[in-house]
Order: sequence, then structure tokens, then C-alpha cells
Amino acid sequence: MIVIPGPASQDLGRKVADTLKSRTVPVVFKTFPDGESYLRLDGNVTGEEVVIVQTTGPPQDVHIMQLFLMVDVAKDLGAKKVTVVVPYLAYARQDKRFLPGEAISIETFIKLIEASGIDRFLTVNIHEEGVLNKFSVPAENLSAMTLLAEYFKKKGLTGAFSLAPDQGALELVKEADKVLNGGCGWLRKERDRLTGEIGVEEKKFDIRGRDVIVFDDIISTGGTIAAAVKMLKEQGARKVYAACAHPLLVGEAQKKIMQSGAEEIVGTDCVPSPVSVVSVAPLIAEALAERGI
Ligand code: R5P
Repeated sequence: MIVIPGPASQDLGRKVADTLKSRTVPVVFKTFPDGESYLRLDGNVTGEEVVIVQTTGPPQDVHIMQLFLMVDVAKDLGAKKVTVVVPYLAYARQDKRFLPGEAISIETFIKLIEASGIDRFLTVNIHEEGVLNKFSVPAENLSAMTLLAEYFKKKGLTGAFSLAPDQGALELVKEADKVLNGGCGWLRKERDRLTGEIGVEEKKFDIRGRDVIVFDDIISTGGTIAAAVKMLKEQGARKVYAACAHPLLVGEAQKKIMQSGAEEIVGTDCVPSPVSVVSVAPLIAEALAERGI
């Protein structure tokens, strides 16, 4: 098996290959002055089982185009099978038509990635697991929540309360709580579909003097986590930490969260960022090995 670390996941792709003791085929890539993506596989893939690791964090559309190019060229050059690992799957939040006339973006992505010839798809903490049913090739979701919780356990935070900033993240905090054992809860969040403004329900928790970790799949603008952290601090929480699989950290997100009273923001290398201190390489490598890829 050969691993191709895509332009958006160079470090993670290499770590996965190192863990599996697999050969890598480097990708030569550049952006033309007019913005088009250029890409070349610098090695032989003919007759090989190929794993492409490429996240689709910002700039999403560039990274998606690079992904299509890598799959298509690998197939075109005679790769036997192509497994695609997309640690952060962009567009998974647009999985239905919320307003009339909207594109169902994730469906468009799936149609195109399947047309480029993939044989299997793996992702991590997809925003909506039901999206995987839209694939016709085997598609799976892995979760980084145990790895994130273990990071906090190593910091001495066993017994911390785990909080989901919205109902969608409840399953995530349940996983974290299995490691941290401090109990868990969730908030109800409302986002205005047109303005994007976030409102978090006022809810009382038994957290006075306790440490709390807010877990989410994505931190984008930071509005969701910042609102939760603020509420927890007002309720007397001792230290509040923010954790996520996908630290997109758009604009002033980091500043916004720290100013709301957070102690630390912890993310994974599903999306490379200044807070990506937890690597999902062992998780991905183990999944590939278990499936005999
Ligand atoms: C949405 O429901 C996701 O799970 C995250 O809560 C959301 O993407 C975070 O966005 P932001 O950081 O912009 O509040």
C-alpha cells in the first residue's frame, strides 16, 4: 500500500505512512498565477493500493479540487484501488435544503468524488453522520473524541465536566466522558439562517468550582464555543477548556474564545492550525490496518 500525503495534509499523511511503515508518493503542487491548481504525483502508483490523505479545510474549494486531481490521476495511472481519507469533510453542514433553491453542497461533493473513481472513503467526526449514506462506495466515520479526552486526562483533568454546546455534539461528549468520568451535558443552540448569529439557551449546570471542557466537532468563527464558555464562567466554573476535531478558526475565532474566558483551545491535525496539538494519525492508521487497506 502507498500513502499519498495531499497538499492540505502533508504532515498528517506522512505520520499515517510512518505509523503503517508504508511507502509514500509525494505530490508536487503549485497554484498558477490565475489561481488554477497544478499537481503531479512524483512516483509510481500503477497496480498499487493507494491511500490519499487530504483534508478539506480552508481554502476548501482549492483543497477539494486538489483531491479530485489526485484521485483522478492515480486512477488514470493504473492504481488498483484508491481509498480517500478526508480528515475534515467540508460542506457536510449543507446536507439539506434549509431555504428554497439552496444547493445541497455535500451531495454535489459526493457525486464528484465518486465520479473521480474512489473505492472507499474515510473521514473523522463528520458533522452529520447520515451524510455517509449518500455514498455508494463504502464510507466511514472515525471519532477523535477519545484522543482529545485523553489529552485532557494527561493534563490531570480526569473528573472534568464535558459539555456539548449544542444537541448535535451530545454523542461526542458522551465519548469524551467515558475517558474523563466527570459527567456530561448539552446546550440548545439557535443559529439565524440568514445572519449566522448564534443564541445559546440559558441552562444551569452543577459546575461551580469545577473544570469544564466544551467539545464540538468544528470551531469555525468561535461564536458557539465562546457563548458556551461565557455562560459556564458566569455559573462559577473554575477553568473552561475548548476542544474540537476541526479547528477551522476563521478570522478572530481564537481571540474571541480566549476573551470569553477559556483556558486553552485544543484541536486535532484533521485541520492544521496553531491549536492542532492532538494527532489523529494513530486513529487513521489503525482504521486502515484493521480494514486490511
Ligand atoms: C454546527 O452545528 C457545528 O457543530 C459547530 O457548532 C459550528 O460549526 C461552530 O461554528 P462557529 O464556531 O462559527 O460558532
